[in-house]
Amino acid sequence: MAAAQSMHSSSIAPPTLPPDARPKRPAPLPVAVAAAEPLPDLAVELRGLTKVYDSAGRMPAKTALDRIDLAIPRGAIFGLLGPNGAGKSTLINILAGLVIKTAGKAIVWGIDIDADARQARAAIGVVPQELNVDAFFTPREMMELQAGLYGVPKAERRTDEILGMLGLAEKADAYARTLSGGMRRRLMVAKAMVHSPPVLVLDEPTAGVDVELRQQLWAQMRALNAAGTTILLTTHYLDEAETLCDRIVSLVEPVTTVPPALSRWRLAVAAPGRLLFRYGPSRTILGPLFTDMQAAGLTIRDVSTEETDLEDIFLRLTGTRGKP
Ligand SMILES: Nc1ncnc2c1ncn2[C@@H]1O[C@H](COP(=O)(O)OP(=O)(O)OP(=O)(O)O)[C@@H](O)[C@H]1O
Ligand SMILES: [Mg+2]
Repeated sequence: MAAAQSMHSSSIAPPTLPPDARPKRPAPLPVAVAAAEPLPDLAVELRGLTKVYDSAGRMPAKTALDRIDLAIPRGAIFGLLGPNGAGKSTLINILAGLVIKTAGKAIVWGIDIDADARQARAAIGVVPQELNVDAFFTPREMMELQAGLYGVPKAERRTDEILGMLGLAEKADAYARTLSGGMRRRLMVAKAMVHSPPVLVLDEPTAGVDVELRQQLWAQMRALNAAGTTILLTTHYLDEAETLCDRIVSLVEPVTTVPPALSRWRLAVAAPGRLLFRYGPSRTILGPLFTDMQAAGLTIRDVSTEETDLEDIFLRLTGTRGKP
C-alpha cells in the first residue's frame, strides 16, 4: 500500500472554482507587472520543482521538495497542506526569491523566475510564517517604507485603503509595539499588498490565532480574492483549507520507516512511501490497521492486495526458488 506517498502534488478537492471565485481582473497592478497582458490563466505554475538543502557541518543534505508539479489558476484560493517539515515554506520562499531552487521551473504570473526574478517577485506579495514587525514604526510608516522598497510612486500608494481593508485604519499611527498579535498579523498582510500584487502568498496565516481572529482573517482573504487577488496559503488545518480554499494540495513525505505506533502490525517498508503487510484474509480485519495508520499521522493514498499462490508458498517453504 502506498502511505504518505512522495511529494508529488495531488488535488484532493474538486478542480472547479465557485462562480464568485472566477478569475477577475485584479485591482491596479504595480508598474512592474502592469504589462502582463493578456492575463495568464495560471497565477503560479511549478514543474518538477526540487530543492535540496546542502549538507552543513554534521547536518546531511536534505531534500525539502522533490519534483513538485503544481498549477494554481488565476482567481483561486489555493491551500497547500502538509505536516511540519513537508516543504511548504521552502516552496513559498522560492517563489519569494528568498531560497534558490535546485531544479525545475517556477512561473509566477506568466513570468519564469529564471528569466526575470525581479519581475516575478513584483507579481507576488508574501506574508512570511514569522511575524517581523518593527516595534518602533507605525503601520503607516511601515507601509510607506515597503511601498518605497517596491518603487510604488507616491501618487499610486494605497496605504489608507489597504489598512482600512484589513481593519487597521484606527491603528495607522500607533506604534507597532502597541498592536495585538492579531493586528500584527494583519499588518503583515497589509505590507504584502502595498504593490498591489495579483498573487498573495500567506505562510500559515492563522497559526496560533484565536477563533474570532481566524474568521476575520478568512473574511479578509475572501474579500481580497473577490477583488481579484489569487491567494496561495499554507496551513496545517484541514478545516481551514476546506472552508476557505477552492483547491487543496498536500505535500507529504514518503514513509521510510514504520512508525513505532504501528509496531504491533509487523509492517515492512517495501520502498519509500510503500508499506507491505502480510496477512491471512480469513484471519485479519484490516479496518483497525487503517485506523492506526491514520492515528500515526500517515495518509493512505492507495491500497493494493496480492494473492499468493500455492506454488509461491511451496517454494518459500522449501526455499528452492532461484536455486539451480
Ligand atoms: N535553510 C535550511 N537549511 C537546511 N535545511 C532546511 C532549511 N530550511 C528548511 N530546511 C529543511 O527542509 C525541510 C522543509 O522545511 P520547510 O520549512 O520548508 O517545511 P514546512 O512545511 O514549512 O514546515 P512547518 O510546517 O514546520 O513550517 C525540513 O526538513 C527543514 O528542516
Ligand atoms: Mg513553514
